[in-house]
Amino acid sequence: MYKRNIIITGGAGFIGSHVVRLFVNKYPEYRIINVDKLTYAGNLENLIDVEKKQNYVFIKADICEFEKIDTIFKEYNVDSIIHLAAESHVDRSIMNPMDFVMTNVVGTVTLLNVALNNWKNNFENKIFYHVSTDEVYGSLEMEGYFYETTPYNPRSPYSASKASSDHFVRAYFHTYNLPIKISNCSNNYGPFQFPEKLIPLMIINIMNNKPLPVYGKGENVRDWLYVEDHAEAIDIIFHYGTIGETYNIGGDNEWKNIDLVKFICRLMDEKLNYPPGSSEKLITFVKDRPGHDLRYAINCSKLKNTLGWKPKTNFKDGLIKTINWYLENAKWVNNVITGEYEKYYQKQYLER
Ligand code: NAD
Ligand code: TYD
Repeated sequence: MYKRNIIITGGAGFIGSHVVRLFVNKYPEYRIINVDKLTYAGNLENLIDVEKKQNYVFIKADICEFEKIDTIFKEYNVDSIIHLAAESHVDRSIMNPMDFVMTNVVGTVTLLNVALNNWKNNFENKIFYHVSTDEVYGSLEMEGYFYETTPYNPRSPYSASKASSDHFVRAYFHTYNLPIKISNCSNNYGPFQFPEKLIPLMIINIMNNKPLPVYGKGENVRDWLYVEDHAEAIDIIFHYGTIGETYNIGGDNEWKNIDLVKFICRLMDEKLNYPPGSSEKLITFVKDRPGHDLRYAINCSKLKNTLGWKPKTNFKDGLIKTINWYLENAKWVNNVITGEYEKYYQKQYLER
């Protein structure tokens, strides 16, 4: 008998695999059921260290399939969901918005319906925790911050689909009393991130002596958080957050893209014993992303003040850990950058 039976959706992805690892190891009294479709971004190699644990189950399933998810709910007596499954990359959402509507919107509403059907006679102890992004708030100028009360203003197909899913989750709380929680986090980085995203893409291209594509002038600003700090925030909100509430999560760590890429170049030169300035020579300014949001910046004082969370990983230390991980995991890198990803890279960077 487990104390909780928790579905984690998207557990084979980047952030999901860190959340699965944290929960499986920290809470042997919980059964963790990882439900993942294994798209290009899902990779069971991310979880080799937990796959044999007694309290861990993996099920390959698409969150859009009501019956399959409903069967899992019944078979495992599911009382909580931590929902991370999503299409997560802005550039891919520009190429193919419909995939984002399907998984992020239809998939989330399907999960809400399964949870409601199974829990509606007794909401006690149930939790539907939806993991979202700061991108739903839109784009900031060089001043100001996103608060939990900031009106939604999504501007990419990705952020529009995540905003829509957040609205549905809140609607199920207000309309049906479904016990939900939501968090909106800034940009994550760390081991196991798929190299379509800025930081691993730059690390891997430096490793392979390939151009470092910086969109536009590199003036856009992002707030970066080490992925394990995000997983810890999710743990705290899952256990202590108030039902119906939203929590912003951020790193208080804003960087202009060009400054960040130069910082990665310096760290890589040091690590690889290259002459100073070698990696920077690979920087190439390329055509900007359409509708490129200028700046994201999170105010997360609600989470800090009410639940006592704060990021633990200093940015330089986190980047060094991340760089070392990619250098030491050449097989993982090689497996993900061959095949389907090669075609995406060609389309995104070489045919524009
Ligand atoms: P990811 O792309 O690395 O992983 C997504 C996972 O979801 C993959 O394992 C994939 O196989 C799975 N998946 C996709 N479609 C599915 C479907 N229809 N059914 C079941 N599984 C499916 O994503 P990530 O970067 O780990 O992001 C996880 C969540 O966190 C997303 O909801 C994202 O919006 C949110 N988020 C990400 C960031 C970030 O910086 N990466 C920041 C804030 C919030
Ligand atoms: P990304 O990692 O895609 O995250 P998001 O767009 O969700 O914030 O990109 C982070 C920033 O880096 C964003 O401003 C776009 C920029 N970027 C580049 O300049 N070059 C690239 O090759 C990529 C992938 C991103």
